[in-house]
Amino acid sequence: MPLSAVILAAGKGKRMRSSLPKVMHTLAGKTLLAHVYDTANLLSCDDIYIVYGHEGDQLRAAHGAFNAHWVRQERQLGTGHAVLQAIDSITASHHVIVLYGDVPLITVHTLTTLVEQAADTGFSLLTAHLDDPAGYGRIVRDDAGNILRIVEERDANEPEKRLREINTGMMVVRVGMLKKWLGMLTDDNAQQEYLLTDIVGHAVSEGVGVNTVQPASVMEIKGVNDRVQLAELERHYQLVQARQLMSQGVTLADPARFDLRGALEAGEDVFIDINVVIEGEVSIGNQVSIGPNCVIRDTRIGDGANILANCVIDNADIGARNRIGPFARIRPGSSLDEDVHIGNFVEIKQSEIGKSSKANHLSYIGDSEVGERVNVGAGTITCNYDGVEKHKTIIGNDVFIGSNTEIIAPLKINDGATIAAGATISRDVESGALSMSKRETKVVKDWPRGRKKKGSE
Ligand code: UD1
Ligand code: MG
Repeated sequence: MPLSAVILAAGKGKRMRSSLPKVMHTLAGKTLLAHVYDTANLLSCDDIYIVYGHEGDQLRAAHGAFNAHWVRQERQLGTGHAVLQAIDSITASHHVIVLYGDVPLITVHTLTTLVEQAADTGFSLLTAHLDDPAGYGRIVRDDAGNILRIVEERDANEPEKRLREINTGMMVVRVGMLKKWLGMLTDDNAQQEYLLTDIVGHAVSEGVGVNTVQPASVMEIKGVNDRVQLAELERHYQLVQARQLMSQGVTLADPARFDLRGALEAGEDVFIDINVVIEGEVSIGNQVSIGPNCVIRDTRIGDGANILANCVIDNADIGARNRIGPFARIRPGSSLDEDVHIGNFVEIKQSEIGKSSKANHLSYIGDSEVGERVNVGAGTITCNYDGVEKHKTIIGNDVFIGSNTEIIAPLKINDGATIAAGATISRDVESGALSMSKRETKVVKDWPRGRKKKGSE
């Protein structure tokens, strides 16, 4: 059935106490609005309308990749008024699905059922049964169980308030009927707003049956009004993702202390320790172990790699059987071949490191090409920046670099060269050569070292 989605996102979200529009707050690294937009796309909606109010420029700029119609609602006069802003643009043969920019966890599965249920009468509504229905519109039914109307909490009497079936707000309506009923709305209610929910009463009085559907989980229909609710939905979503990964064969040391803000593809027998954050698109091979407190973003990690505690890896390619960390930082554009060891307090930026090469301690390797079986000693620094431009360091195969070496780029150290400890290298080094900087050790005998005065620290 041809479908247009209308996503309501004009509310200011006062209770967030934020300078950002509410729907720009993120859940699992993605804005609330993007969650709903992506779900509408999975549902194969032909057109997506987003009704916005506040900070429209900011909202549109943050979602530049959306293929959506942005519709401004000048003043927030109610949910019915919001849908009305888009209705004239929607193709007459479509059904309209109403979604909410601040209800991010609705699933395509539930919405598919909702769409199917609108096929016969042209009207379906997503409702839910809650133990505590406070704050929601209640579904009023007749003795036969047919829907009569929705009553908002503020307009409800005591028996109505005791009803547990609530309106989630999500619905599918044939566009012609929706347009007619929206035109009939008044603001004659406690909130003095044009309430979308009032169209249910109009449908019933015209003999149009309203079919109802329930979500698989009530978390799907929960909205975000404040930061407490945002955190609740985040934790729920993370747990769902964690369970999915575990069912696919990933061991999580603690599913409650794992965060995935993006997509993770993982092989067999992957172990992920506590407090690991995965962002963007990450793929991990078989038998990989990730230690505690690692942040890994947009990265591929090869089979058998061992990422030790407290590493930050961003936009990198980590080869099979690498050993990284603890406390290593691999920055964007870095590519490490197989069996590479990168140790503590080593930073690698925009560099290629060849097979079986090692930089085990306290080094900076930037804008470099490092060959195979190279040993980079502790405290080696590629001086890649002259204050204006970045320069490249090329290091051949089987090079040995002694500790505390400065390599002033651009230059090339050819295969098999040896650099003595403490050297400052500022020109190319021939293959097989030894290069050193002359720094003699001077000894002053019987040196009278200063003494602290009595009583001082
Ligand atoms: C609405 C429903 C209520 C339902 C509840 C579910 C109506 C009249 N009531 O109530 O039955 O139980 O949602 O959460 O629909 N919005 C706009 N423009 C407006 C007003 C609202 O875009 O002029 C957007 C808001 O940003 C929000 C959504 O519509 O995303 C719902 O509005 P809200 O004011 O929260 O409606 P509720 O009173 O919660
Ligand atoms: Mg609400």
